[in-house]
Parts: sequence; structure tokens; C-alpha cells
Amino acid sequence: MEETSLLRLLFLTSLLSSTKNQVSLTVSPSSSQMFEEQSVSLSCENDDSSAGWTLRRNISYETRTRCGYGWGHLAGSICNISRMVPWYSGVYWCESREGATSNSITITVTGGPVILQSPVLPVMEGEDLTLRCLTKTSSNLPAGFYKDDSFIRTEPAGHMTIHHVSRSDEGLYKCYISSVGESPPSWVSVTEKPMTTRPLHFDNRLVVHLVVFCPFCISTFIMVSLYRHRAKGKFLPVVVVPIRAEDGMDEDYDDVITAATTEHQF
Ligand SMILES: *[C@@H]1O[C@H](CO)[C@@H](O)[C@H](O)[C@H]1NC(C)=O
Ligand SMILES: *[C@@H]1O[C@H](CO)[C@@H](O)[C@H](O)[C@H]1NC(C)=O
Repeated sequence: MEETSLLRLLFLTSLLSSTKNQVSLTVSPSSSQMFEEQSVSLSCENDDSSAGWTLRRNISYETRTRCGYGWGHLAGSICNISRMVPWYSGVYWCESREGATSNSITITVTGGPVILQSPVLPVMEGEDLTLRCLTKTSSNLPAGFYKDDSFIRTEPAGHMTIHHVSRSDEGLYKCYISSVGESPPSWVSVTEKPMTTRPLHFDNRLVVHLVVFCPFCISTFIMVSLYRHRAKGKFLPVVVVPIRAEDGMDEDYDDVITAATTEHQF
């Protein structure tokens, strides 16, 4: 029984450590749209750098190709692309040898004069969403913003913030700078906060409780059964003891009496 509980504990701790070992892909500059010729750094960030994560991408004419093999320069866990080109538009992600994957990031590279800077990761419900409309040389020209091809509003400084986003803010955004041009569209996704965070927290807490309580319950059970076993073993002598004690007590009693009488004699 102790062996199985030990195995269960090992299994649970390995579960805990494997959830810790997750990787996330970050991109710098943090934007889902880039200008042609721009340089970009992509990195697989993880607690354990020895885990052997590789950066891969799907673009229009090839799939699952690794950084350093025909594109990008790999330096440790960072992949640098010194000159982006429009056909590098696609999906980028980190993958382990075992096939585990990180979040994926969709990057759009444009040869045009305007980009929309939107978050590369999904925005959590209730957070603020900021979109920036940029040209190669300026980031504060008046810009018009569109969602799903309908005009939202013009922002004089070229950036628009939507406060406390909800699922209905999810969509395809683009922007336009008059007499310069229009950006490509980018999808902005909004994730539901309670649905994504609560079950995770619950699961982690459950696992922690199991890890803490399993040995506790098992050791308590063992202690109780040991105690009961011993108590049973002692129960018979305990029944016998008073009989013996009575014999002994009589002797002791006599001794006490004689001691008392001898004391009295003094
Ligand atoms: C990359 O392309 C492959 C093959 O088409 C596909 O199975 C896979 O889901 C794609 N990965 C991503 C992250 O889009
Ligand atoms: C990658 O890019 C970063 C920042 O742009 C730079 O500091 C670093 O030296 C580059 N590394 C390689 C291997 O090119």
C-alpha cells in the first residue's frame, strides 16, 4: 500500500513539474504586423532552457520549417530575422522534441506604407486593447480605425484604446492614414476570463491538495491502524494486570502497613 501511494505521489509531482515546463513564444517588437526589411527577434521562453524547444513556422509555401534551416539566425533560444519579407507572413510557434507546442503568433509582413500594431497574444476580457497605426517614419499621424470593414472612428494621435474589452470586440482590425495608405488587417482575439483561468486554478489547487493530503491521509491511516493493532495487543495484559496488581497490591499494602506500624513504633 505504501508503494502505490509513493507511485501516486511521484506521478502527481511529475504532473506538477510538466505544467511548469510550458513554453511561451514572445516576439520583439511586439506587433502582429511588420514592415518589410524590419528586423525581428523571436524567443521561446521557458524555465528550463535545456528543454530543447525549436521555433517553427508555417508560411504560404512551406510548413513546419525550423529557424536556422533556410531562414533566421538561431542564437540560443532566440531566433533573429534580420530582414522581414512579405512571404515570411505566417504562423510562428515553439515546439519541443516531444511535440508539445507553445502559443502561436500570426505575423503579417507588408510591403505597404502603413501597419497596425495589435497585440500578438489574445486579450483577456476586461483588459484594455490599444491599437496603433504607424508609418515607417511616424507613429502619431491622425488615423482612422476599422473593425470587420466598418469604420469605428478617427484618432488624432494615431492610436485607439478600447477599455474593458468584451468578446464582441474580437474581430479583424485595420487602420488608414489619409494620403499615406491602409494597413493590412489583423485578427484580434479576446479570451473569456472566467472560462480560461478558473478551471486552471481549480485544477492546480486540486493537485496541490492531493499531493499534500495523500501522504497525510495515508500516514494517518497507518498510525491509526498501528495504534489499534497495539491497543488490541495490550488489551489482554491490561485485563490480566489488575488480577496481578491485586496480588501485588496486597503485598504492597502489607508492606505499607508494616512500614506505618514500624513508623508508629518510633
Ligand atoms: C502548420 O501546418 C501544418 C500542415 O499543414 C498543420 O498541420 C499545422 O496545424 C500548422 N500549424 C499551425 C500552428 O498553424
Ligand atoms: C538578435 O537580435 C538582437 C536584438 O535585435 C541582438 O541584440 C542580437 O545580437 C541578435 N543576435 C544574433 C545572433 O543575431
